[in-house]
Order: sequence, then structure tokens, then C-alpha cells
Amino acid sequence: MRLSNLLKTMAKEIFAGKSEKKYKIIISGNAISKKNLAPLLKEHNKTLIISDNGIPLNITKKVRSISKTFSKVFSVTLTKGEQAKSIKNFQKILNLLADNNFDRTDAIIAIGGGVVGDIAGYVASSYLRGVQFIQIPTTLLAQVDSSVGGKTAINIPAGKNLVGAFYNPKGVIIDTSVLTSLPQREYKAGLAEVIKYALIKNKYLYTVLKENAQKILLMNKSIIEDVIFESIKTKAEIVTKDEKENGIRAILNFGHTFGHAIEAHGKYKKILHGEAVAKGMLIASKISYLEGHISQKYLDAIEDLLEMYGFDLSKSQYQFKDLKPFIFRDKKVKSGKLNLVLLGGPSKAIITNSFDSKNLKKSLSF
Ligand SMILES: NC(=O)c1ccc[n+]([C@@H]2O[C@H](COP(=O)([O-])OP(=O)(O)OC[C@H]3O[C@@H](n4cnc5c(N)ncnc54)[C@H](O)[C@@H]3O)[C@@H](O)[C@H]2O)c1
Ligand SMILES: [Zn+2]
Repeated sequence: MRLSNLLKTMAKEIFAGKSEKKYKIIISGNAISKKNLAPLLKEHNKTLIISDNGIPLNITKKVRSISKTFSKVFSVTLTKGEQAKSIKNFQKILNLLADNNFDRTDAIIAIGGGVVGDIAGYVASSYLRGVQFIQIPTTLLAQVDSSVGGKTAINIPAGKNLVGAFYNPKGVIIDTSVLTSLPQREYKAGLAEVIKYALIKNKYLYTVLKENAQKILLMNKSIIEDVIFESIKTKAEIVTKDEKENGIRAILNFGHTFGHAIEAHGKYKKILHGEAVAKGMLIASKISYLEGHISQKYLDAIEDLLEMYGFDLSKSQYQFKDLKPFIFRDKKVKSGKLNLVLLGGPSKAIITNSFDSKNLKKSLSF
């Protein structure tokens, strides 16, 4: 085999987390394999696979059959959707673990999108004060974002992700082949987070995104692996520096203050998270321009990039007054001051609470 082809078929690996909490992330077109799972599973007598009923069966079946060669395998399949991250399901899974005498040497495997990863991770952090867990993310959002960084959570009636823990997985297996069954709208929404990494930190990723939009939208195998690798590399660098969000990690919220406000205003129904974040990133970029941090040319380039990936950037559905209450309810408001993540230049994010509030209003109207 020629060297260039050999390199293409080799899995990419990244590490995240500090010292004893360090974990390996494997990315490849056939990452769900005995070779990759063996080091993660061989020391466990029992494993519980958590997934939901929207995840193609061939994926869960493959993991189950590999896991069976190492341990006794139990399964729980949740009903798909955000409501799966409930206290009721949390309790149901804990009962299942206890009824089957799971102990601290056993493990949990999450196969699914961010919903499954979040609840499975929270169960793992809580049961017996912590059992090991493995993430096998199956949506683009989970592959480039939620499976790495150790944030786990469930929802309570008062709000999303209000209960949770920082708890790192033992390993993350990113198999890009599973994305082929993902609805195109979900896939595209996940690309918003990829664009986020390019804008806040990763110049190389910005160039890749600019030059390969068609291939990426068509999920070209070799390029998508590179795109996921670059995204995770950026996220891993940030979360390893700041595991508990005391500082730099906040730049991962670029576009999210406005995105969350747009989602909440639309009552979470009309718009996917990534679609709202795309609009939010344009608003934050406009403020960055109005504040004099970036040029008009760069602002236009950002808008072009978001358009290239088919994001709807219209703002007819809301006005400043509609979003304002949600913007100021955001958790980035500290002692009355709104902390914004803005761009300080190409592929560079800054966190600031000193900006002209008129520019906030203006950014939503031009
Ligand atoms: N922990 C974190 O750091 C973090 C970061 C971002 C988002 N999140 C959380 O992630 C959740 C959203 O995750 P999501 O966007 O992955 O949604 P999701 O988990 O609900 O998955 C979306 C849908 O796709 C289906 N699906 C999953 N994989 C598939 C595949 N390969 N083929 C076909 N269908 C598939 C699922 O069954 C589901 O119906 C939210 O709850 C959010 O709070 C967490
Ligand atoms: Zn997000």
C-alpha cells in the first residue's frame, strides 16, 4: 500500500483530560472494532449499553456483539428525544444497575447522540459515586462536541441541563461511518459547532471549511474525518486547560448566548440547536465588528461561510425586544453584567463584559 493511502486508513487519535483523568479519543471510518474496544472493555465483567430507539440497530448490534466477547452485556433503550434526559430515566437506569449487582469494576457504554451521552455519563458519575463509561457518539454534534469535555447532565422541569456533573469518560470511539444514516438536517446543524471551532481558534479548520463546502456537505469520507479531528483537537485543548469552566472554556459558548435566546424564544420546537447557534454566531460577529475587533471584510467572510453551509440567517422571526429577556437570563450574566464571547480577530475569541450596549441592539437589526 502506498504511504499516502496507508495514512488515510489509519485512525486518528487525540487525548483529552489531565493526568489520571486523561482519555483517548479514536476517530476513523471503522472505529467501532474489537481492536479499539478491547483495551476499554477487557477488565470489566459486566457492561450496560445505553442507547435510544432512533439509533440504527446495526450500530448497537455491532457494539453488543464485540462487548459480549469480554463481558456480560445488559442493554437499555430509551425513547428518543430530549425528554429522555429525565429524572425518571435516570432512576430507571440506576435501578437496573443495582438489580443486576453492578459494582465499581463494571462499565457503561453510551451509544447515541448528545442525549444518550449526557444521561449515560451522569448515571456513570453517580452510581456508586462513579463507574467507568465509554462514549460511542453517533450524531455529528456528539462526535464534535458533547462526547468530549466531561459535561454530563439531565433535565428537570425548571430547565435543561440543570442537574449534572463534570465526569470524564474512559475513552471515546468516533466512527464516522455511522453518520450516513443521520438525517441531513441533523448533520448540517452539527456543522455549526464545527464552524464555531474554526472561528474561535482553528485557522486551519477555517480554510478547510472555506475550500471544501460541497465535499463536507456530501459527507466525503476522508475530509469529514479531518474536520472531526480538527474540531475535537480544538475542543480537547480548551477543556483540558479548563476542565470546570472557570475561564477559557467559556469561549466554547461563542454564538450560544444569542443561539439559546433564539431557541428559547422559539420554544425549542422550530429550530435545531445548531441552526440557532449559526444565527447566534453571526450576531456575535456583528457585535465584534461594531466594537472594532474585526474588519467588515472578515465579517462578510463569516456570513459567506455560514451561507455556504446552508444556514438560514434571516432574522425576521424575532427582534431585539423578543430576545432581550432571554439574553440577560443566560448563565453568562455575572453580577448583573453580561459576559460576551466575541471575536478579537481571525480564529481568535475574546471574553468581555465591556462593550457598548447600543451595539448589542444594532447587531440584531443589520
Ligand atoms: N455534554 C455536552 O458537553 C453537550 C454539548 C452539546 C450538547 N449537549 C446535549 O446534547 C443533546 C443534543 O444532542 P444531539 O443533537 O446529538 O441529539 P440527540 O441525541 O437527540 O440525537 C438526535 C436524533 O438522532 C438520532 N440518531 C442518533 N444517531 C443516529 C444515527 N447515526 N443515524 C440516525 N439517527 C441517529 C437519535 O435517535 C435522535 O432521535 C442535548 O441534550 C444537549 O444538551 C451536551
Ligand atoms: Zn452548542
